[in-house]
Amino acid sequence: MLTINVNGKDREVDAAADTPLLWVIRDELKLMGTKFGCGMGLCGACTVHLDGNAVRSCTLPISSLAGAKITTIEGLSSAAVLHPVQQAWLEADVPQCGYCQSGQIMSASALINKNSNPSDAEIDAAMSGNLCRCGTYPRIRRAIHRAGDIAAAPAAGTQNKSFPEITNFFKAAGSFSSGNLSAENFLATEEHQS
Ligand code: FES
Ligand code: FES
Repeated sequence: MLTINVNGKDREVDAAADTPLLWVIRDELKLMGTKFGCGMGLCGACTVHLDGNAVRSCTLPISSLAGAKITTIEGLSSAAVLHPVQQAWLEADVPQCGYCQSGQIMSASALINKNSNPSDAEIDAAMSGNLCRCGTYPRIRRAIHRAGDIAAAPAAGTQNKSFPEITNFFKAAGSFSSGNLSAENFLATEEHQS
């Protein structure tokens, strides 16, 4: 039995020490917002934060996580206020099929949390490990710039979107019922899932 800290809570997990974090997040903790893509650290679909840095959970053995703080897409924001990156994603209608998007948001939010005014080159460097087969890259870049504006002046954002509003956004985007992405595991918090 190992203890890891996920979204602010210590969680005991019954898994071998070399089990990749991604499997623990999805299969043990049932946090389904983090996606499996390649399983080899190449696509970014499984991105989470480890002590504030974007990392690929598919190649991270849980034995390396003692004392670390892991954040998944479900723990990125509170129920009342979205992370600036999530708000900007909604405004820019970034997702297409949606599969890559929680990983994209986790990489973008790690960047914006450290630098609210990134250059295009800094965005490209931070996002280069996150692939999108739908080609949403131009909207991603626009949304990251917008997220920086919201982070610098939160009143400029569309704060306090209600959960039904977010759900309707994903229904309209055609990605709500894909099984790969839902409003619950994409934007919402663990409070909404319980
Ligand atoms: S599933 Fe982890 S990088 Fe592709
Ligand atoms: S939105 Fe479809 S893979 Fe990125």
